[in-house]
Amino acid sequence: MLFCAYALHRDPQVFEEPGLFDPYRWLPERVTAAQRKGLFSLGAGRRKCIGDSFGLVEATITLATVTARWHLRPADKRPVRPVMRTTLAPSSLLMPLERRAAAGPAAAE
Ligand code: HEM
Repeated sequence: MLFCAYALHRDPQVFEEPGLFDPYRWLPERVTAAQRKGLFSLGAGRRKCIGDSFGLVEATITLATVTARWHLRPADKRPVRPVMRTTLAPSSLLMPLERRAAAGPAAAE
């Protein structure tokens, strides 16, 4: 059986303003039971991903670590085109890294 995760993850009956990029919809005070059930990037039921929690924690730590040290900006102004692969991905998105100014006590020295 095949299903379209892209469409289901944008079901207006489950997700408010489904087309909007709104990571805050997942804050504990905003997330709904229907939303939790409605997201299955990691599978569901008996074939649910065994790396579910690990994958999410790893992604969060990686993102926090990289963005704390580097600014990422698109290399050019071309619009980014979404491409459906196993997950939704950008067609091409070159982002040169620019080191952030050091913060904290060491920066004051
Ligand atoms: C964000 C990263 C990940 C995504 C999006 C993802 C996605 C998925 C999905 C959709 C399935 C279900 C496939 C099916 O219906 O047959 C699955 C299963 C599985 N995943 Fe992941 N996964 C991720 C990370 C990981 C990691 C880090 C591990 C191992 C440490 C892992 C190990 C597995 C295994 C072993 C299964 C098969 C479970 C079973 O059939 O009993 N995955 N994954």
